[in-house]
Amino acid sequence: MDFSLTEEQIMIRDAARDFANNELLPGVIERDNKQEFPSEQIKMMGELGFLGMMVDPKYGGGGMDALSYSLAMEEISKIDASASVVMSVNNSLVCYGIEKYANEDQKQKYLTKLASGEKLGAFCLSEPEAGSDATSQKTTAIDHGDHYILNGTKNWITNGNSADYYIVIAQTDREKKHRGINAFIVEKGWDGFVIGPKEDKLGIRGSDTHSLIFNDVKVPKENRIGEDGFGFTFAMKTLSGGRIGIASQALGIAAGAYELARDYSKVRKSFGTEICNHQAIAFKLADMLTSIEATRLLVHKAAWDKDQGNNYDMSSAIAKVYASQVAMDVTIEAIQVHGGNGYVKEYHVERLMRDAKITQIYEGTSEIQKIVISRGLLKD
Ligand code: CAA
Repeated sequence: MDFSLTEEQIMIRDAARDFANNELLPGVIERDNKQEFPSEQIKMMGELGFLGMMVDPKYGGGGMDALSYSLAMEEISKIDASASVVMSVNNSLVCYGIEKYANEDQKQKYLTKLASGEKLGAFCLSEPEAGSDATSQKTTAIDHGDHYILNGTKNWITNGNSADYYIVIAQTDREKKHRGINAFIVEKGWDGFVIGPKEDKLGIRGSDTHSLIFNDVKVPKENRIGEDGFGFTFAMKTLSGGRIGIASQALGIAAGAYELARDYSKVRKSFGTEICNHQAIAFKLADMLTSIEATRLLVHKAAWDKDQGNNYDMSSAIAKVYASQVAMDVTIEAIQVHGGNGYVKEYHVERLMRDAKITQIYEGTSEIQKIVISRGLLKD
């Protein structure tokens, strides 16, 4: 078994690390305080190729593997999880979904712009009563021959206002239950498409999360992705890849908090010595590093499965549920290592703890991951 990274993967990881330290770190606390979307930084991420990393170069992407994407996600998330969720949604839910399942015309029209970062995407599945229970879509898209009429409300949509193109999941035939669900590409600005209020969130406050309202929005039939009734499978398959992104985000949040705690412990003194010399602190750091190393193996295994063409429904769910718990545990311990300073914004670790919590909720709660894992293990 070879655990080494290729030269290209190391280069991508280092480029993401440099970008995060030079461009994201300086304003990250202010953006969190003001709930300010990192517009400039996201534009730069597009120019650097971080928004369409795995997309085929013929559509303007980087043609990279999922492991490279995971490495970049980890580095960006160490510094700014608000920027990394924007990156994750655009790469693994929007670009991947379109590249894998959309037709050539849709790819030429939408993917080329999304992969280059010229346009930003959002993935709209969750509803007031259909977050975990994704088959219970209330949003409807009624077939009117050459177009559908879309009505309903979506909730907690990442990039809700900042996106240009939205993949919207809707029920087209209630009788058929999950086989009567479709996915559509909807453009911002279409008549009847209203951006709802912005959520005031605990964490990832630099990302914009909105509800979206669709009032008789006319969606051309050519904007449906895949065959009629493919929408639920589309959402599930796309989310499996999304979970690799979020597991990488959780890993990055944990690793970022650990590195801050480790460095702080080497300079902060108590009882006449640096606090890293106290076993009470050193053992905490040892536990943090151990769980991060274990997480990284799970996350890289899920990415490797995707790169190998293996089924990654299970490995991505395993990676996500584990990584998000580690992100919570490690960030809480990082605050403890910092003592009173850990409770103060300028030391970053309290923000990382707030950011960590969402990784146990979005793209399927931890409980949903356990449903996926337990159903998968019973199939074998
Ligand atoms: N691939 C293909 N098909 C799948 C599948 C998969 N991974 N998972 C389920 N299916 C199919 C099943 O085979 C079944 O099809 P048939 O009956 O035709 O054989 C059908 O889908 C229904 O499956 P289930 O009976 O398992 O459905 P369920 O309702 O019991 O549960 C679930 C499914 C796993 C709980 C699913 O609803 C789920 O993943 N929910 C969570 C959704 C989620 O992640 N939401 C997050 C929103 S997105 C987001 O957060 C983005 C963001 O902004 C950051």
